[in-house]
Amino acid sequence: MKAEQENYDQWAWLYDQTMGPEYGQEKWKALQKMILPKLPDGAKLLDLCCGTGPLIPPLIQSGYQVTGLDASNEMLAFARKKAPEADFVHEDARHFQLKEPFDGVISTSASLNHMPTLQDLEQVFAQVYASLRPGGLFLFDLNHPQQMQKWWQGTPTEGDILEHCAWMVTPRYDIAKRQGAFQVTLFRRPASSGVTLRERLQRPFYNLLRRSRFIGLRLKLIQQFHLAEPRWARSDIDFPVIGFDLDLVIEALSKAGFCKVQVQTIDQQLTVDADHSAYFSCERSDV
Ligand SMILES: C[S@@+](CC[C@H](N)C(=O)[O-])C[C@H]1O[C@@H](n2cnc3c(N)ncnc32)[C@H](O)[C@@H]1O
Repeated sequence: MKAEQENYDQWAWLYDQTMGPEYGQEKWKALQKMILPKLPDGAKLLDLCCGTGPLIPPLIQSGYQVTGLDASNEMLAFARKKAPEADFVHEDARHFQLKEPFDGVISTSASLNHMPTLQDLEQVFAQVYASLRPGGLFLFDLNHPQQMQKWWQGTPTEGDILEHCAWMVTPRYDIAKRQGAFQVTLFRRPASSGVTLRERLQRPFYNLLRRSRFIGLRLKLIQQFHLAEPRWARSDIDFPVIGFDLDLVIEALSKAGFCKVQVQTIDQQLTVDADHSAYFSCERSDV
């Protein structure tokens, strides 16, 4: 896990400014629809693979007691800053043991796609089961093979040009191997020297491209960013992810002891097609 953890550590500050808050808004709606109404007031929640913790402040403000768990220290550092009232655990989702039983466990933004095999995912399910009180609830979302095959084409899907950096995410998926990855590419303006006149002149153009309707042009420019800003240092980090077959995930949840397993889209449609992630909800069975 050490090497992967370093990758997540490196991604943390960028994730915290960009994808974290963006995904957080959508995931908050999912929690409000799919799990929070079923929990008692002040319930104890575990945010598994919490990352920089975008969901923890709204959960705390809504009266929940939250523990965030993540394998990356840097991700946790950002989460801690955001929500000092929460508890945090630096652990692997496959091996953690926490004393208190939780009323609910959540894992959002397809974090469990980062488990390298189905066996690893089964291990996570066993730990989650053990950490829940009888009747406790588990909600998580996954990207699935059909969806990844359609959308993860090896071309950038997201990206932005900020004051000090430009970034893009390029997801790819090999259906035969059920193996995917997304590459996070970052261009950083050199910290040592000031903003050049050229950079100053380019800025209004970059700001224009930041508008949502110019996403296509913006991503094209970021792919060629070394030509636009030759002084900015490029780095690429690859995050391998697995496209787990939805039926095998359901089977693994049952094997771990969960009941009332339901799979739905964020709009609570029971048919999960290639345009939607799969949200799994289930319950620890021994009430
Ligand atoms: C895509 S981020 C999602 C973060 C957060 N759940 C959110 O919705 O923004 C995935 C997170 O999973 C964490 N992670 C990956 N593998 C892990 C593992 N085996 N154990 C614990 N955390 C892990 C990474 O460190 C990263 O913070």
